[in-house]
Amino acid sequence: MWYNFFGDFMLIDTHCHLGREDYDNLDEVILNMNGIMIASGCEDKTNKEVLSLVEKYDNVYGTLGIHPENINSITDESFELIEKNLNNKKIVAIGEIGLDYHYTKENIDYQKEIFIRQLELAKKYNKPIIVHSRDAIKDTYDILKEYNLKGSIHCFSSSFEMAKEFIKIGYKIGVGGTLTFKNSSKIQEIVKKLDLKDLLLETDSPYLTPEPFRGKRNVPSNIYYVALKVAELKNTSLEEVLTVTNNTAKEEFDLIV
Ligand code: NI
Repeated sequence: MWYNFFGDFMLIDTHCHLGREDYDNLDEVILNMNGIMIASGCEDKTNKEVLSLVEKYDNVYGTLGIHPENINSITDESFELIEKNLNNKKIVAIGEIGLDYHYTKENIDYQKEIFIRQLELAKKYNKPIIVHSRDAIKDTYDILKEYNLKGSIHCFSSSFEMAKEFIKIGYKIGVGGTLTFKNSSKIQEIVKKLDLKDLLLETDSPYLTPEPFRGKRNVPSNIYYVALKVAELKNTSLEEVLTVTNNTAKEEFDLIV
């Protein structure tokens, strides 16, 4: 592959999903990643998969959480599974958690309750969080500003002003494959205006595949194309983007690399 030319630069994908069901050969996908990935769980099944992957692979770190789309399938044991593994050094955050009003607003109160319950865990165990917020940015912000936490506002899709507000209360802005899409001028403009040090790069694999592979299943090694796009937008070198964003990722998630 031609991008092996850049083999000296370690890549860090700060947010992906590595479900066994999503890939024909997940082990190959992981072995093809020249760097570190942070795999996020979304409910019991994927949280358990994350736990087994971080055991198996040195370069896979994990986060455990209950995604707002999965709140109907959980029990108290779901929270116990998360809590009892938060002392595992390779579980670096709670996530993917948050609010999603895209498909339904009927369960807003319950979404908030589950989100807050996990923020309390993050506070208790001093863990960063990976936040999903879709069509719910104001409620997400209003809740997070009551907590003194840090982490990533993953796949950020709101305004520059909101990005600044989240940064002010301690968060980094997660950006990924959507940056490379033709119709994504809004998030491109935001990236141009933000400080490089406030960005976290992510693929959200297997979703949101960047160009030139849009339409195919996303893999963590495609983080290279996200970094390349950020370099283009910031008018700087790939090396600078990787140096700065890798440092942010290491600090934010306490990665021991
Ligand atoms: Ni995700």
